[in-house]
This record gives sequence, C-alpha cells and structure tokens, in this order.
Amino acid sequence: MPSSSTDIASIRRDYQLAALDEATAGKDPLVFFRKWFDEAHKANVAEINAMTLATVDAENKPHARIVLLKGLDEDGFVFFTNYDSAKGNELDARPYAALVFFWQELERQVRIEGSVVRVSEAESDAYFHSRPTGSRIGAWASPQSSVIADRSILEQNYLRFEQQFSGGNVPRPEHWGGYRVLPDHIEFWQGRSSRMHDRISFRRHHDDWNIHRLAP
Ligand SMILES: Cc1cc2nc3c(=O)[nH]c(=O)nc-3n(C[C@H](O)[C@H](O)[C@H](O)COP(=O)(O)O)c2cc1C
Repeated sequence: MPSSSTDIASIRRDYQLAALDEATAGKDPLVFFRKWFDEAHKANVAEINAMTLATVDAENKPHARIVLLKGLDEDGFVFFTNYDSAKGNELDARPYAALVFFWQELERQVRIEGSVVRVSEAESDAYFHSRPTGSRIGAWASPQSSVIADRSILEQNYLRFEQQFSGGNVPRPEHWGGYRVLPDHIEFWQGRSSRMHDRISFRRHHDDWNIHRLAP
C-alpha cells in the first residue's frame, strides 16, 4: 500500500445539529420520511434522492450501488433501471432490497428494507417519457452491467439508436423500467454528540408498525 498524507483514522466529526424522539417520529414512517425529505430539500442537501441500493445474488452474496429515488407513495420507494442489469438479475432471483440515504448536511441516515416488485408498464412509460431525449437514447445504447470492449461500442450504439429514432419518438425499451421497494422496516438515525445517536426503528406488523428505539 503506498503511503498517504491523509491520516484516515483521525478523521472524525461530532454530530450536534438535532435530536430525534419517538413523539417527533410519529406512527407512520412513510409520513415521517416525507417530512425528513422535505427538510433535506429545504436545507439544500446535495443529491438528496441518491440512495444506496443493496441486493443479494442467487448465491446470497450482497451487492450495493447508488440509484436515484424517483417516486414515493404510501406503497413504497421507486427507482428506475435496466431490468437486464446485474441488479435486475439479482432482484429477479431475490426480490428483496435495502436502501440507505445519508443526508450529511442534516447528520441524518434513513435505512429501508423490504420486498421489491416491478412497477406497472404504464408507470415506467410515464417516467421514461419525462426524461430528456439523450437519456432515453442512452437506455437503448447501454447494455448495463455487460462487459464492453471499449467506450467506442457505447458511442456507436448511441449514434445507431439516435439515427433509428430520428423521428423524435424514443419508445421505452422493454428491458428498462421501475422497481418499487415495499418497506417492512424503516429506521431513522439522527447523529448526536459523543456517538450517542438517536435511532427510531419501525417494523411492519400486519397493517401497523412496531416502533422501537435502538441503541446507537
Ligand atoms: C449519483 C448516482 C445516481 C445513479 N442513479 C442510477 C439510477 O437511478 N439507475 C441506475 O440504474 N443506475 C444509477 N446509477 C449507476 C449505478 O450506481 C450502477 O453503476 C449501475 O446501475 C449498474 O449497477 P449494477 O451493475 O449493479 O446493476 C447511479 C450512480 C450514481 C453515482
């Protein structure tokens, strides 16, 4: 390992901005998530909708990457991707995922776990057609997660599909669409001083939620 000027072990920050208690978190974690999301938006949190998505493959090995939250309703959390990608194959084999948001400007983390379903074709179409033309062509041009010989393959694909759809209508590829994570566990974490953080956990129980405070 080359020597580095950065002393990683000495990097630390004491969290002091806010506190979280059971009364504030309320009874419905999706309502509370929306409240925290709105507060993060007002605080100009960077990449507020970027979330880590963890999946497991058929051999139960975990894989994680960032995707963007593109929808939120009473059922759950929606993101869009290539169904033939590594994550798409993993979700086909094991339709269960974990999501993590870290809003460092507010010293907050939210963890979400649940089963995963594909959104309806109409929902995928509606979002796909709201995207800029270049991104829509990109969805055709990129065989996401496949090994490619070099970047020129992508660029050739892009030009080919740009020509094919030069009439302006870029349809949604069948291999591209949304997933919805249906949460059965949501945990809100607020950083506190001296690592004495607040953690409020919601676990689904039939149509209700069991609420617990967890040690940090
Ligand atoms: C900020 C950010 C946002 C991203 N958003 C998405 C997204 O919404 N959908 C997506 O498929 N990939 C997104 N990616 C790329 C993924 O992290 C990942 O590289 C890609 O989906 C392939 O993952 P896989 O091979 O595990 O399927 C994003 C990456 C970053 C850094």
